[in-house]
Amino acid sequence: MIIAVDGPAAAGKGTLARRLAAELGLAHLDTGRLYRAVGLAVLRAGGDPEDPAAALQAAESLDPTMLDDPELSLDRAGGAASKVAVMAPVRTALLALQRNFAAKPPGGASGAVLDGRDIGTVVCPQAEVKLFVTASAQARAKRRHKELLGRGEASIYARVLADIRERDRRDSTRAIAPLKPAADAILIDTTTMDADAVLAAALEHIPK
Ligand code: C5P
Repeated sequence: MIIAVDGPAAAGKGTLARRLAAELGLAHLDTGRLYRAVGLAVLRAGGDPEDPAAALQAAESLDPTMLDDPELSLDRAGGAASKVAVMAPVRTALLALQRNFAAKPPGGASGAVLDGRDIGTVVCPQAEVKLFVTASAQARAKRRHKELLGRGEASIYARVLADIRERDRRDSTRAIAPLKPAADAILIDTTTMDADAVLAAALEHIPK
């Protein structure tokens, strides 16, 4: 079974995907980390994530051990990710990896949960279940702001909200694989829901 979980930044899709995988015994791939790893690799090499040659080179030489790098969760990695993610060759370079994960989930799992922006539309259009997890930009910024403060990082709410809006704009307006629900996706608006309620809502749509 393949479950696709898509949605904008900080809507709760990562938490949901992780919990669904644990609950159902499926493997989990956070595909945003692939784009973050590419963006971060470009930054570390002193390059510009908007430079197509640098971005493609980083995507083609992606080091799988980098997927555990704690710096991937920093906002600068997210911003760089959304810049490299607009480029078709970068997306193509990462596609095979994502499809292989879905086709042959590691650890002998009977299926996989993949979360990202284009899982239901491009990566796994054949997924049995497609969830599109969203929330208001304010609710997402509030959660992200709280999370940053909780990690002891300096954070200004207005800045977090502006960054989220900018990333939404870049992800939704790009020509290739823009952020949008698949025609057959189930929408879950998490604006006023906690993680347990989101998991319960999602489980209602998983065939037994
Ligand atoms: O989900 P996360 O915030 O980690 O994703 C970082 C960025 O990577 C997104 O803003 C988006 O531009 C890109 N991305 C993508 N397609 C995916 C997953 C992430 O374009 N499947």
